[in-house]
Amino acid sequence: MNPSLTSPFDLGTRTFKNRMIAAPPPTMTCTFDGLVTAETIEYYQRLAETGVAAVILEGAAVTTNARAWTKHLDLSRPEILTGLSQVSEKIRRGGALPFLQLYHGGCNSIPVEGKKLYGVGKPLLKKISADIRPLSQDMIDQIIRDFVAAAVLAWNAGFSGIEIQGAEGSLIQQFLSPLTNCRDDEYGLKNANGAFFARQVIRGIKNVTPDLTLSMRLSLKDLLPGGNGIRQAVSAAKLFKQEGVDVFHVTEGLMVGNPLMIHPAVGKAAPETPFAEDAQIFRHEVEHPVMLSGKIDRPAAAEQKISRNVCDFVSLGRTLNRNPRLPAFAGKPEEFKGLPCLRCKVCIAAAKGCPDKHIPFARII
Ligand SMILES: Cc1cc2nc3c(=O)[nH]c(=O)nc-3n(C[C@H](O)[C@H](O)[C@H](O)COP(=O)(O)O)c2cc1C
Ligand code: SF4
Repeated sequence: MNPSLTSPFDLGTRTFKNRMIAAPPPTMTCTFDGLVTAETIEYYQRLAETGVAAVILEGAAVTTNARAWTKHLDLSRPEILTGLSQVSEKIRRGGALPFLQLYHGGCNSIPVEGKKLYGVGKPLLKKISADIRPLSQDMIDQIIRDFVAAAVLAWNAGFSGIEIQGAEGSLIQQFLSPLTNCRDDEYGLKNANGAFFARQVIRGIKNVTPDLTLSMRLSLKDLLPGGNGIRQAVSAAKLFKQEGVDVFHVTEGLMVGNPLMIHPAVGKAAPETPFAEDAQIFRHEVEHPVMLSGKIDRPAAAEQKISRNVCDFVSLGRTLNRNPRLPAFAGKPEEFKGLPCLRCKVCIAAAKGCPDKHIPFARII
């Protein structure tokens, strides 16, 4: 029998009650210095109550100088443990598994006052004009330790899993892309297409938190001239699978500059589920569970992707902010009459309410 949106799925040591996951667009609800607020807690509780199997928290910076936008969670602040624990507890009580996404912005980070901007090296992309210094070996070792410490924090805060952000213009993607990695040491492209750094991060995390379910966000294509295509994504993923990644959360594009200005591939003019075909090829090649993201606006579209084995999970980002009741239509997609999401470049629904007709998020749920 073909799987459906409501079929449970075992991943690692955990059972997901269905195939719908809340994706992590940033909420901009934390404090300017990166701590959880009551608004953050309330938002994630509501997401869990929509009926999804898991909620992935927005990309949280593994250290202060890894932050890439204002009001960006900062996992290096010891005080954050209390707020994160409250978020994970509310998500559990809402009926979903809590996941925390670990993020480093690399050359997309906001330089901390008085500090220089560091990244993989001088990028080949002309769009990046900032003066970026290459990370030294000591700095790379420290960042790996930061990822590992963040995983331990997630465990202590009661999360079921973590997601390593290896896409969306993050430092890990900058190591993987020929447009941003021109190093000639072991972190360069000559060594497994730039996968060495990410492998060390995964290995470090698996060593200290083997029981956390591990998701990895990966870009299937850079969608820029001279950038990576699906072949490189498949070979990197095979290595990451060997290191212990349980599921790949796939997207496309390489964000440069402001990572909040998301790629037009999932913008207003994009077709429905623009990455589905590539995701199916990737899943077939890597032979590992895949979570498909990107403009999955209707339960019927989500159902079709699961039943045809395009992917094992669908992740809903702005879609779920706009239509929090979507998961309730999993078994009856023909009855769904959702409001189309306007696909604003920055979704402010979590912090300020969805602006369309000025209906606050609290009232459309
Ligand atoms: C402004 C903005 C910022 C985003 N930042 C992140 C991020 O930091 N980490 C991440 O995994 N996804 C990020 N995303 C992608 C979403 O998680 C989601 O995959 C994407 O928006 C596609 O889903 P949707 O079509 O339902 O919005 C971002 C999306 C938006 C709109
Ligand atoms: S229409 Fe609402 S839910 Fe959609 S992106 Fe804009 S603010 Fe977010």
